Amino acid sequence: MEMNEITNLKEHEEIRGEDITAGLDFACRQILKILPEFTDKFQPAYSTDNFYSPSENTDWTNGFWTGEIWLAYEYIKRRYPERSGDADKLYNAGMVQVKSFLERIEKKISVDHHDMGFLYSPSCVAAYKLTGDEDAKKAAIMAADQLLTRFQPAPGFLQAWGPMDQKENYRLIIDCLLNVPLLFWASGETGDGRYKDIALKHIHNAVSNVICEDGSTWHTFFFDPVTGKPDHGETCQGYRNGSAWARGQAWGIYGMAESYRYTGDPEYIRLFYLVADYFLKNLPENLIPYWDLEFTSWSREQLLADPQPWDSSAASIAACGMLEMSRFLPDDTAKLYIGYAKKLIKAVWDLCVVRDHSVSNGLVLHSTYSNHSPYNTCNHYGVDECNSWGDYFYMEALTRLDCNWEVYW
Ligand code: GLY
Repeated sequence: MEMNEITNLKEHEEIRGEDITAGLDFACRQILKILPEFTDKFQPAYSTDNFYSPSENTDWTNGFWTGEIWLAYEYIKRRYPERSGDADKLYNAGMVQVKSFLERIEKKISVDHHDMGFLYSPSCVAAYKLTGDEDAKKAAIMAADQLLTRFQPAPGFLQAWGPMDQKENYRLIIDCLLNVPLLFWASGETGDGRYKDIALKHIHNAVSNVICEDGSTWHTFFFDPVTGKPDHGETCQGYRNGSAWARGQAWGIYGMAESYRYTGDPEYIRLFYLVADYFLKNLPENLIPYWDLEFTSWSREQLLADPQPWDSSAASIAACGMLEMSRFLPDDTAKLYIGYAKKLIKAVWDLCVVRDHSVSNGLVLHSTYSNHSPYNTCNHYGVDECNSWGDYFYMEALTRLDCNWEVYW
């Protein structure tokens, strides 16, 4: 396929090596500083006035904080082997959290939804890959088993939310493309093909319906519970039906990279280009996406009258997806997407990254979790705040740029 350079990014700068190091250094200082408060407790999904308060391990987002601990642990060991005391503190905290995840899945605490990958890949799969800890492996496989309980055989997808026998819940959501890697990993570890079969069915039914011809994406897609036929797309967290929710688009980019990594199916490379290019072409001049890509086309006057928050987390997620996919692309194309990822992370670094502990106890400002609009169905919270996945994926992107990283997903 012939690649066209995305012209609106041509003049932007890429993040420099010294900023990658400075970013990881500060992230580790921040994580070590707050670790005493956030070892037995977890980060909540989003900050309040840019500060997280310790919370229980009951939300879909708790794995991201544990993932940050593992990324910090890896970084300190790699770059500063003399700081074994800091590495030990991070290792011990990570292990405390792994035990909490094991207890959570054994007792089935708030696991009646599809987000087992977001919870268990950056926490327990990561811990298992880094340390070989058997409890971490056990917890992650139990989480994969739990995810299988969300499978709807007609037409074959993992239902996101709610009881399994209600028409109003008979839908998948684009975010789930990042839960599915847990199933591929579980098949690899156990030799049981069931996980992989369900993963493949889900991906097929997701991408056939949520990705539109122009490369924009639906957040959620409903099926007929009797016939299994595709019914209709509907946004929950995007601005309106038919607009592209920025983070959903970013989940699509990273989802295509992971789908390709686990299957080698070239169709996912084609779809990666489609969704990634739509994302990139619909960024504002400063490259930090509005929470919905639609607002890039709004006039200055419209935005002054009705200002719209950014979602910096979408930039970091998209960058991680591009860096992942670039491992499998021909050299020229890989270079292009690595460059785009570096430009996105440079924008996050310049405009959103926390550099002072008194500003925030997180890493990245200006994310949006859930912004209610007159046309969507979501609640309103975590708007223009730090959020746990925004911090995690920013750190993952820096890590990918710093070393040849073994993926947690
Ligand atoms: N997976 C939910 C979200 O991105 O907000």
